[in-house]
Amino acid sequence: MSKRTPLIAGNWKMYKTCGESVKSAQLLKSLVDGVTGTDIMIAPTFTSLQPVFNAIKGSRIDLGGQNLHWETEGAFTGEISGDILKSAGCSFVIIGHSERRQYFGETDETVNKKIKAALACGLKPIFCIGESDAERDSNLTFSVLDKQVQAGLKGLVSDDLKDLVLAYEPIWAIGTGKTATSDQAQEVHTFLRASIAKQFDDPLAQSLRILYGGSVKPGNTAELMSMPDIDGALVGGASLDAETFSQIVNY
Ligand code: PGA
Repeated sequence: MSKRTPLIAGNWKMYKTCGESVKSAQLLKSLVDGVTGTDIMIAPTFTSLQPVFNAIKGSRIDLGGQNLHWETEGAFTGEISGDILKSAGCSFVIIGHSERRQYFGETDETVNKKIKAALACGLKPIFCIGESDAERDSNLTFSVLDKQVQAGLKGLVSDDLKDLVLAYEPIWAIGTGKTATSDQAQEVHTFLRASIAKQFDDPLAQSLRILYGGSVKPGNTAELMSMPDIDGALVGGASLDAETFSQIVNY
C-alpha cells in the first residue's frame, strides 16, 4: 500500500458557464460527501473559481487554477497571478498542460518560472509532462520526459517540492479515448520516480504524488490505481459530469 494520499483532479478546461460550473460543483459535493482517504480537486475556468469555491466550502474538494503567470502582478493583459488564484480560493494550479504547450507557446522554461511562482505563493503545482505519439514511436519517451522534468524543476531543491504533484499525460491519450495501459503508465511512473530520486533524493521521490492523465474514465480507474506508482488521475472529459467524476473518485 502506498503511503501517498491519492489525488483525483478534474480539469474542466474551457467548458461550462459560471452557472453550470456552480451546479456541477454542488452536485459533486453531495456525491463525494462520504469519501475519505482520497484528495479531490476541480479546476474550472477563471471566472467560475470564486463561485465554485463558495459552492464546495465545507467539503473535501479543493479548487485549482488551470494556469498562472509567473509574475506577481503587472501589465499582462489576459493573464492571472498566483495570488489572484489564491484569493479566489485556489490551493492548486495546473502548470504546463500539453494544450498550453501546444497552443499557447509554453516551453520548459516558462513552465519552470510558473512552478516557481506557484510555490512562492503557496499554491500546489500540478506539473504536467508527456510525450507525443511520434516521440513514443521513436523510442524517445523516457528522454523527452526526463528533459521535461529536469528543465521544469531547474533551480529548485527537494525542500521546495513537498507540495508539488507530477502528472504524466501522454499527449496521444488526451481526449482521444486511447488510454495508456496500466502497465505502460506504471512503467513511466517508475521511471519518473527514479528520475526524481536522481535529480533530488529518494525521500522526495517516495513521497511525490504522480498522477496519470489521458482518457481516464470510471471503467479504467481502478486498474490504473492498482499500480504501485500511480497515485491518482488528472481527468479532463470525464470530469465534466459530476456523476461520472464521482465514480472515478470512488474507484
Ligand atoms: P482527458 O484529458 O481525460 O479528456 O483525456 C486529460 C487532460 O487533458 O488532463
